[in-house]
This record gives sequence, C-alpha cells and structure tokens, in this order.
Amino acid sequence: MIRFHLNGQWLEESADPSMTVLRYLRTRQTLCAAKEGCASGDCGACCVIMVDQDEQGALHYKAINSCIALLASLDGKGLITVEGLSHDDQLHPVQQAIVDCHASQCGFCTPGIVASLAALYHSKEGKAANDDEILVALSGNLCRCTGYRPILDAARTMHQYPPPPESAPITQLKQLLKQTQWSTPARSDDSAENRKHRLFLPETEHQLQALLADYPDACLWAGGTDLGLTITQSMETADPLICLHRVRNLYRITDDGNTVQFGAMVTYSQAEPWLNACFPAFGRILPRIGSRQIRNLGTLGGNVANGSPIGDTLPVFLALDAQVRLVSAGGTRELAIETFFTGYRQTALRPGEYLQTIIVPKLSTEQWFTVYKVSKRREDDISTVLMALRLDIDDSIIQNARIACGGMAATPLRARRTEAALTGQPLMLASFEQAATRIPRDFTPMDDVRATAAYRLRVAANLVIRAGLEITGTSP
Ligand SMILES: Cc1cc2nc3c(=O)[nH]c(=O)nc-3n(C[C@H](O)[C@H](O)[C@H](O)COP(=O)(O)OP(=O)(O)OC[C@H]3O[C@@H](n4cnc5c(N)ncnc54)[C@H](O)[C@@H]3O)c2cc1C
Ligand code: FES
Ligand code: FES
Repeated sequence: MIRFHLNGQWLEESADPSMTVLRYLRTRQTLCAAKEGCASGDCGACCVIMVDQDEQGALHYKAINSCIALLASLDGKGLITVEGLSHDDQLHPVQQAIVDCHASQCGFCTPGIVASLAALYHSKEGKAANDDEILVALSGNLCRCTGYRPILDAARTMHQYPPPPESAPITQLKQLLKQTQWSTPARSDDSAENRKHRLFLPETEHQLQALLADYPDACLWAGGTDLGLTITQSMETADPLICLHRVRNLYRITDDGNTVQFGAMVTYSQAEPWLNACFPAFGRILPRIGSRQIRNLGTLGGNVANGSPIGDTLPVFLALDAQVRLVSAGGTRELAIETFFTGYRQTALRPGEYLQTIIVPKLSTEQWFTVYKVSKRREDDISTVLMALRLDIDDSIIQNARIACGGMAATPLRARRTEAALTGQPLMLASFEQAATRIPRDFTPMDDVRATAAYRLRVAANLVIRAGLEITGTSP
C-alpha cells in the first residue's frame, strides 16, 4: 500500500505499477481538472502540485506533469490539484488573478497553469515573483488560445491577493505531512507478489540491494520522465518495478572539498544551487533541460543510467571527468563515466546493480569550463548537439583539453582528435579554429529528424570556435 495526502485527506491505495497520477485523479477520484493533452510531459495540461518535506522539515512545492508521474511515487507526499486550491468559496490568489486578468479562454490549459503558478506562489511564500521566475515556472505550460500576456499579468499580480486561509489544505500540509514522511517505519509491499505486475518500494539501500539480488533484471523507477512514456506511449508495464523514491540515501549531495557527489535520485531542481555554485556553465544550461516540471521529477541518475546519446548531462559529466559508483548486494565499484556508456543506450550496469552516486571533480582555478546546447527551441527541447569543454590552462598555454559531445554518435563521446589539436597550443583564437577542423575526424553523426549529419558537424566545429572566441575575449 502507499499512503499520501490528497487535497486535505490522507489516502491509502494499492501500489499499482501502471497507474499514473493523472489516470488515478481522473478515473479513481473523478478530479478531472487536470487534463490529458500530450501524455508525454510536453504540454503542462496535466500539472498538479506535489509537496514533499525535507529532513529539516521544510516543505517543497513542485509542479509536476501528472501524466507521466507514477502514483506510487507519491508515497509519503502531499498532492494538491486545482480542486484543492480554493477553500470555503475563496479562490486561491492564483485563481483569482487568472480570473481578474482574463487569463483563460477555452480553459483546457488553465488548471495546469494555475498549478504551476500556485507551486511558484507557495515556493515564494506568497511574495512577488520576478519575470525570470515566472517564465521558468511556466516553461512547461502551453496555452493555445489566451495568449501569454494576460497569463503573465496574473502571475505578476497573484501575490497582491489575500493568502489562502489557515484551514485550506495547502496551508495545512506542513502539519499533515509531519505525520508520515521519512519517519514511517520500514515496510514492504506484501501484496505486490500476488498481483500480475510487481512493484516494490524499498526504503533503504540495503533493502534495494536485497530486492535486486532477488530480481536482478527489475526495472528501477527514478523520476519516471523517461520511463513514464513507456506507460503512456507504449502501453507497457515493467515487471517487477522497483520505485526508488523512498531511498533517502540516494538524494544526498556531498562536497568533500575535491569532488561534489550527487546521489542518483537528486533531481535537476535539487541540484540547481550546487551546479550554479560549483559548475556555473552547467547551471546555465539547466533551464534548457526540459521544463521546470520535468526538472522537478527528472533525476541526474536517471539521465545517466538511461544512457541516451542525447541525454544532456552525459557529455557534461564526461568533460568533467566524473566517476560513477555502482552498487549491488555483491559490492561497490567505481568507474570513469567514460567507460560507463558501452553502446547505443547501453551501459556498464550489470544485472542486480544500481547507480548510486555520480562523483564530479571540482574545477581548479586553472580550469575553464563551458557547455553549449543547440536545439530547435530554447526550452523543453531535446538537444541537436550538446558540447561541454574543460580546458586546463597554464601560462596562456592549453595544457589539457576534454571536449565531449552529445548528439554526434551512438553514445556521448569525446572529441579526441580535436582535444589533441588544442593541447599544447597557445590560448589564441587560431588554435581553436585549427582544432575545429578535426571535428569531422572525431565524429560520424547520423541524419535524423532533428538535423542532418552535415549540420551537426558544422555546429560542433562552430562551437569549438565559439569557445575560442569566448575564452580569448575576441569579438566574432
Ligand atoms: C518533456 C520532456 C522533456 C525532456 N527534456 C530533456 C532534455 O532537455 N534533456 C535531457 O537530457 N533529457 C530530457 N528529457 C528526458 C528525461 O527527463 C531525463 O533523461 C531525466 O534525467 C531522466 O531521469 P528520471 O529520473 O526521470 O529517469 P527514469 O525515467 O525514472 O529512468 C530512466 C532510466 O534510468 C534507469 N534508472 C534510473 N535511476 C537509476 C539508478 N539509480 N540506477 C540504475 N538505473 C536507473 C531507469 O530504469 C530507466 O531505464 C525529457 C523528458 C521529457 C518527458
Ligand atoms: S498531458 Fe501534456 S504534459 Fe501531461
Ligand atoms: S485557454 Fe485555451 S489552451 Fe489556454
């Protein structure tokens, strides 16, 4: 069984591995405000607010795409839909602002937009949000008929309305969530074995290892932003499925002075302040990965373990010379991330093993690091090419270069010949222009729906030159 808080009441449900949050809301609870538009995390019509509490007791309000979120992943958390926002005939400030600013026409997108803005409103504790914050909050919400200006007007004015009353579900959550969360005693889903599809919710790494020893080929569910699509698009249900949400250790971020270590379940949103502080160029491309809603669920570990050649963090970790820690009941091993990707969407993970930690060396003062993402849209779009470059510079000479690309081969790959051409060269634009000519010898990309091979090669070469322009401060 799973236990969660929905719009003011605790519920217990069986942990069904094929039940998305959206399907549950619409079919089991007849809460039909959240809509199904794309069923793939792209449009935001299904947005709801997931509320969880960290170990310090602070609440985090996150807009999520309920169409690809697994119901079981709500265990121990709070969920607020727009039906639960108004209280005692008083609209929530976001709802009232939407009404007053005429920010809805057909209304199909409106519940999702209200949910995204309400998550922002509560994250800001009712204070005014700036335009950047508003645009990021709405980055996963499409509206086809209102036009965005009135929606932005509503977002800019929502803080001016009276806050929700004390008795409203969303303000009561703090007290209600205290009753469970991470203090819940360990328990296993006994009924899982009796059902057609099995789902397990381990609470410790030890339990996870034991489960994987019994079911070495089990599917691991992290944020579900890749896996959710197997339910909604391919109509597949993994069996058995192990949901990692309650394994607290996997959410840890630690800094030992030389490295930053990200637990596999760290979401993009959770990693954001760390990336901005330690790897600012990485932090700068975060808003280009999916939308806020996707970044609230999607994890670094899921991106790496998925092993996609267009996964955005993979080339970044490659250029940063990261290591991955893989764990099973049999022990722990650490690999250079470079050896982790063994083929198209294939990794070095063995049956029974899981990715526990991504270990990223911090940048020294002699290292210059940048990341470029090229995609057709700025937000919520998959990369055509992503390039990450780390250069070690001493006395205006490039001592070492690590350049990694996504979208250029079956796996994320280093540009070895381009790196060699840069190494030992003076820090001048000409060195980068010369090195860029090696790109076609490093990669043999494919034509696909996103771009032709010729385009990818041209873009990658141009990105090397762009790095040269930036690091030397030369105007193009
Ligand atoms: C609308 C949309 C936009 C997106 N935009 C981008 C984008 O711009 N850039 C990008 O790179 N990706 C993007 N993605 C893909 C996805 O969000 C990322 O790959 C995300 O990081 C996956 O993480 P997750 O936690 O959701 O993984 P899940 O879907 O839960 O899992 C992905 C895979 O990793 C495995 N796995 C997960 N955790 C572990 C673990 N600890 N050990 C072993 N195996 C594990 C799972 O079994 C599964 O095979 C997008 C997806 C959507 C739906
Ligand atoms: S229905 Fe489009 S994002 Fe969920
Ligand atoms: S009001 Fe119609 S889609 Fe937004």
